Amino acid sequence: MISKLQQLKENALAELQTAKTEDQFLAVRTKYIGRKGLLTGLLRNIAQVSDAEKPLFGKLCNELKNLLNDKIEEELQQQAIRNKEDVLLKEKIDVTLPGSVIKCGRIHPVIQIRREICSIFASFGFSVVEGPEVELDYYNFEALNIAKDHPARDMQDTFYIEDNIVLRTHTSPVQVRVMEKVQPPLRILSPGRVYRRDSDVSHTPMFHQIEGLLVDKGVSFGDLKGILTAFLKKIFGEGTTLRFRPSFFPFTEPSAEVDIRCVMCGGSGCRVCGQSGWLEILGSGMVDPAVFENVDYDSEEYSGFAFGLGLERIAMLKYGISDIRLFFENDIRFLKQF
Ligand code: FA5
Ligand code: MG
Repeated sequence: MISKLQQLKENALAELQTAKTEDQFLAVRTKYIGRKGLLTGLLRNIAQVSDAEKPLFGKLCNELKNLLNDKIEEELQQQAIRNKEDVLLKEKIDVTLPGSVIKCGRIHPVIQIRREICSIFASFGFSVVEGPEVELDYYNFEALNIAKDHPARDMQDTFYIEDNIVLRTHTSPVQVRVMEKVQPPLRILSPGRVYRRDSDVSHTPMFHQIEGLLVDKGVSFGDLKGILTAFLKKIFGEGTTLRFRPSFFPFTEPSAEVDIRCVMCGGSGCRVCGQSGWLEILGSGMVDPAVFENVDYDSEEYSGFAFGLGLERIAMLKYGISDIRLFFENDIRFLKQF
């Protein structure tokens, strides 16, 4: 029996020598020291060993079992380390490879202009308020002194939702909504989308306006001129030439439109300015007492001015864009330039 054990030991060690893979080591383990393994079988037959040899035989069996166990365990551990190293080697990162560029969005030029204008007026003490885009006829027209049959309604061809609900045609209704709630003095700015049935190179059915309103005691047309001039020089540069041109809006009296010297031709006349040398930038005027009456302001005590400008118009002039529709086509090549 002891020589059998000797033979078994030699075989097992020889097989361990040639084993390479994890599976092969596991197979050796099963073959010799598994539940039905060869060594296990020998031990089970210990009854055949003479009493004198029994202790030695038992000891040798246990030694061999531990030896095989330790060796295989050790090999398996080595194997696991090698596997891990293989993986690390395969997944090695080459930090010298050029990276992939993450595409980054930009702020839309109209929004950039809106932010710029809001921050200029913030420095003049104006705060920003917003109003609804779906608006009652009353706020969009009536309260602004534009009666149902008023010819001025033609100036702003309107999308109707219902008889007395419209998509607002300008941001001026926000003036009325604010004055209904807030007592003077006030300085507000209201940016937002407006809608008109209008479409060509300088008009789109949806565009953005910013409304401004200042009400206080003793506000004069000189204040209007002063603030709007300061604003336009900040946005277009100190050297900008302006003109205030008499105009008409039902909700302001007197009213003025402000033009700047054409930024394309410098005033000599071109396609963009319609050969006039001037570009209309905004509408403005002193708030009509009829509007104050609608919101219960005392027009004897208070006066004020209001203005409204088209954001796309300003962005077109500032960036030299000749077609307003480019703003809404979402062409990355166009948007990337800003
Ligand atoms: C108004 O909308 C008045 N609410 C402005 C105002 C406010 C006057 C407060 C007095 C007091 P107007 O219709 O002119 O005015 O429009 C103002 C600006 O919006 C124009 O100067 C122009 O820049 C822009 N605009 C008008 N229609 C369009 C359009 N379809 N597409 C793009 N911009 C437009
Ligand atoms: Mg106009």
